This record gives sequence, C-alpha cells and structure tokens, in this order.
Amino acid sequence: MKRINKQSLENAYRLFESGAIDNIEVGTTRGLQQIHTYLFGGLYDFAGQIRTSNISKGNFRFATALYLNEILVKIEQMPEHTFEEILAKYVEMNIAHPFMEGNGRAMRIWLDMLLKTRLQKVVNWQFVSKELYLQAMERSPINDLELRTLLMAHLSDEINNREIMFKGIEQSYYYEGYEKGNDD
Ligand SMILES: Nc1ncnc2c1ncn2[C@@H]1O[C@H](COP(=O)(O)OP(=O)(O)O)[C@@H](O)[C@H]1O
Ligand SMILES: [Mg+2]
Repeated sequence: MKRINKQSLENAYRLFESGAIDNIEVGTTRGLQQIHTYLFGGLYDFAGQIRTSNISKGNFRFATALYLNEILVKIEQMPEHTFEEILAKYVEMNIAHPFMEGNGRAMRIWLDMLLKTRLQKVVNWQFVSKELYLQAMERSPINDLELRTLLMAHLSDEINNREIMFKGIEQSYYYEGYEKGNDD
C-alpha cells in the first residue's frame, strides 16, 4: 500500500514535470481516465478503467455500477463556465466515483485542470485542511455549499506556480493517508 502510494506520488509529480498534463482532455471522463492511468498505471490493474462493482464510503453508496457509463456521459455534458458550475460538476463526478480506488487523487487534478482552463485559477490545496475538506466532501452529495466556501477561500491566480502545484499534490496524497518521507 505504502509502496503503491509512493510510486503513484512520483507519477503525479511526473505528470506535471513532463508537461504530459497539457495533453490531457479537460472536463471529460476520458480526461479523468487519462489522469488515473498516469497516476496508477502498473500499480493497479484497473488503472483508468471504469468500475463494474458497487462501492461505498462511510454511509454513502456511490453511483450504481450498472448505470455508471450513462451517468458519466451526463456529467460530461454539465456546464463549466463558472466556479459554481465547475464545483457542481466535480461533486457529481465524486458521486459517480468511477474507479475502484484513487478517485480522490485523480479527481482533484481533474478539478484543478478545469479551474485552470476555464477560470485561470487553481486550488491552493496546501492550505485546505484535511478534516474540513473530507467533511465537506461527505456533505457535498446533499449540499455543496460547505465545499464551495472552503475551496473558494483557497483559490489562487498563480496557475503556473510550481510550488503551489507540487505542495498541492502532496496535500492530495496526505488526504488519502500517505505522507511523503514517512515510508517503511
Ligand atoms: N462519505 C463520503 N461521501 C462522499 N465522498 C467521499 C466520502 N468519503 C470520501 N469521499 C471522497 O472520496 C475520496 C476518496 O476516494 P478514493 O477512491 O479512496 O480516492 P483516493 O484513493 O485517491 O483517496 C475523498 O478524497 C473524498 O473526495
Ligand atoms: Mg482511497
């Protein structure tokens, strides 16, 4: 588990370092699959693959696998002009949770690419507390106000700032329980 997360974090750095991120589709399911493949290719045999089993977290059951492909088509068609629209789309994609594992990490990059392309903003994740973020995500299927308020407070115009991007990736892995430099 630790090894997978460590290698995946290195893949995430490389996604940005190499410039591969600029060739990934923005706001589509295919784009999200490309990110997931990049992060988890060779680590999970389901990298980039839409799940066919049902999954849940806490009390929340994500979209039924049987309808997932149809749901993903609908989500792709959601508008992405404003911050509210982009957040609504992100929340729906989280409810879909298309992969067996790694949804959070792939989707935060997917969200940042949407914000960067459409609004010339990125989330400064290093300042978004793990507790508040996870709480807001749990709440988001019912009401996304908490999440919107939290992320709105940490938007940055510095879309090409490497430190913001790399610290953000580390924070994203920390949300998932992995801390850099804390290996076996
Ligand atoms: N109870 C919940 N309801 C809705 N979304 C949740 C819930 N718990 C966690 N999440 C979201 O799911 C993500 C974790 O999904 P997961 O597939 O395990 O991704 P990763 O392995 O990258 O963390 C969290 O980062 C959060 O965004
Ligand atoms: Mg996980």
